[in-house]
Amino acid sequence: MKAITRTAYGPPEVLELKEIAKPIPKDHELLIRVYATTVNRTDCGILTGKPYLIRAFVGLTKPRHLVPGTDFAGQVVAIGKKVNSFQIGDRVWGLHDEGLSSQAEYMTIRENKAVVRMPENFSYQEVVACAEGAHYANNFINKVKVDTSTKVLVNGATGAIGSAAVQLLKYYGATVTAVGNTKNMELLKSLGADQTIDYQKEDFTKGDGKYHFIFDAVGKSSFPQCKHLLLPKGVYISSELGPGVQNLYLPLTTKIKGGKRVIFPLPLNCKKSIVFLSKLLTEGKFRPVIDKVYQPEQIVEAYKYVASGQKTGNVIINFSPSPSG
Ligand SMILES: NC(=O)c1ccc[n+]([C@@H]2O[C@H](COP(=O)([O-])OP(=O)(O)OC[C@H]3O[C@@H](n4cnc5c(N)ncnc54)[C@H](OP(=O)(O)O)[C@@H]3O)[C@@H](O)[C@H]2O)c1
Repeated sequence: MKAITRTAYGPPEVLELKEIAKPIPKDHELLIRVYATTVNRTDCGILTGKPYLIRAFVGLTKPRHLVPGTDFAGQVVAIGKKVNSFQIGDRVWGLHDEGLSSQAEYMTIRENKAVVRMPENFSYQEVVACAEGAHYANNFINKVKVDTSTKVLVNGATGAIGSAAVQLLKYYGATVTAVGNTKNMELLKSLGADQTIDYQKEDFTKGDGKYHFIFDAVGKSSFPQCKHLLLPKGVYISSELGPGVQNLYLPLTTKIKGGKRVIFPLPLNCKKSIVFLSKLLTEGKFRPVIDKVYQPEQIVEAYKYVASGQKTGNVIINFSPSPSG
């Protein structure tokens, strides 16, 4: 089968498209023909092994898996003899942010992991664009209580996490201020943002808005910069560790002090996110945001683009036989 491979941590150039043996499903596993996967910021972290903390999960000295990739959409083509919740032919999608070897034509996954049947009327590419970023966004939101009286500012609202966060916050009825670049102001409004701030014209940290929560989905601000924008007992959550890894220790110190707080959005339970997102897709309450679609032969270019931090939503790798998916 065709697969993206690498044997060491490094830049996108360590990646190679190769022919390797197709995996064989174990008793509780599904063999999936992958039709679409993504390159996301988690993949970029796993590729370089940075921040170093990530190596505790994906391999200390070298990557644990030959094939990278964290999310997938495809079709079950074989099942292990003890699989009882899926059948050959099922269209499925899922995610595992410690690596799934999904950047290949075929992959295996245990049936009890984060794999579910695809919602109907969506393509593989559309569904896979609702995995990694939306899972992280869901984890931000699950750390706090959001309802129709909640005011939230989302920075980096054009990214995979940010564009999902805006939509999920609107699902819960929050009032959302979305911060993004000039070219994406209309996109942010179409995702449901009540107000937009163009960061190319205005620095939101110098504004006078008041929010219950600030979600920095691009990690370009810090708690000290944003504290004055938070309402009493307001919460700041960032997708990055922050200057001097402050977002790791501020959750503890701000909790002890009381008042405005930082929460670290430790991502948990990929399956719960995938089940929830399938429901929202089916109900028409969530939509994929796709930036570019690359072919496997363009994998180095795709990783470089994603690592630039400038994508809008999600970047897809098309593993279907047809170039258009
Ligand atoms: N280490 C990990 O494993 C890991 C995993 C997942 C996510 N993360 C972190 O989470 C963050 C978001 O992930 P993601 O997948 O959503 O990233 P992404 O899709 O690359 O999104 C970042 C978005 O922020 C925008 N942006 C750049 N500079 C900005 C600024 N100053 N103000 C506001 N928006 C700005 C970018 O667009 P423009 O540049 O065009 O404005 C882009 O749309 C990243 O910082 C990423 O490193 C880390």
